[in-house]
Amino acid sequence: HSKESFRIVEVGPRDGLQNEKNFVPTASKVELINRLSNCGFKAIEATAYVSPKWIPQMADHEQVMAQIQRYPSTSYAVFVPNVAGLQNAMKSGKVDEIAVFCAASETFTKKNVNCTIEESLKRLKEVTELAQKNRLRIRGYISTVIGCPYDGKTDPKLVAKLAENLMNLGCYEISLGDTIGVGSVGSVNSLLDEVSKSVPLEKIAVHFHDTYGQALSNVLAAINKGIRTADSSVAGLGGCPYAKGATGNLASEDLVYMLNDVGFDTGIDLEQLVETGNWICTIMDRKNVSRSANALLSL
Ligand code: HMG
Ligand code: MG
Repeated sequence: HSKESFRIVEVGPRDGLQNEKNFVPTASKVELINRLSNCGFKAIEATAYVSPKWIPQMADHEQVMAQIQRYPSTSYAVFVPNVAGLQNAMKSGKVDEIAVFCAASETFTKKNVNCTIEESLKRLKEVTELAQKNRLRIRGYISTVIGCPYDGKTDPKLVAKLAENLMNLGCYEISLGDTIGVGSVGSVNSLLDEVSKSVPLEKIAVHFHDTYGQALSNVLAAINKGIRTADSSVAGLGGCPYAKGATGNLASEDLVYMLNDVGFDTGIDLEQLVETGNWICTIMDRKNVSRSANALLSL
């Protein structure tokens, strides 16, 4: 019989690049997204319509969205923090989907979007209402779902409440972000047990940063709970501008390697993905942190 499919949301072009100090040329960003489309990703978070004063690396969002080659079966999402960002994104006419954001920690919310959780939910409501009117698909992020660099451990009940809130605002999926990668299998299990009381796990995706080397096992824990969507970043690119010391996302190559072995169909060409990761690391003069990529490259 045919294999069960697993959906990977490739977030490298946004989450992977946003923290990079040296500006990555727009042409390289465009080529990265095109190569990732060609690897077979059906969901790519391409850029962020955020303030260039806050995140200079994403200042070329308009050019990126105008220049990428669009694969008909791939959904291109952009990260949007407020109505101004959404309006700019809609002007491009190229956006399939937006990603909106809240966090389960007051201090992180303040540092990231400069307001309280409550204010951020009000902003979110304005954004989601306008997005729905314009028939855009909306994906919701919750950050610091396990721990926050400033406020410490997160209460899973708060994450469950925020997830319910995001569902009510029209998000088709909620991605749970362990922003600083502190969670391991125990805390991930507890979190998912709590969240599943409010939101069906079919609507949940997981987004692990690999700071403590736990991201891959955390995805497996999520799979065992029934989750079939995870975010990852080619070559493990990334880091969070408002979470010192946090490393990149789980590397897409490592995720695909595991999913292939478990027996899922990801639709991703691993060999081409490894080549893509290696190429962008060369462009960025950065070490490729994907263990699978390094192993496959040395064969
Ligand atoms: P603010 O300074 O409080 O807002 O920033 P403001 O309304 O006073 O605007 C300041 C200036 O930015 C103004 O320009 C606005 O026009 C402009 P000025 O008048 O000074 O010339 N501006 C914009 N420009 C372009 N696009 C916009 C926009 N909005 C305002 N959309 C704001 C508030 C939300 C704008 C700011 O804090 C911001 O852009 N934050 C984004 C931060 C960000 O992108 N963080 C990273 C993503 S979160 C993440 O990585 C976690 C995740 O991966 C999951 C996980 O791992 O947990 C998703
Ligand atoms: Mg992230």
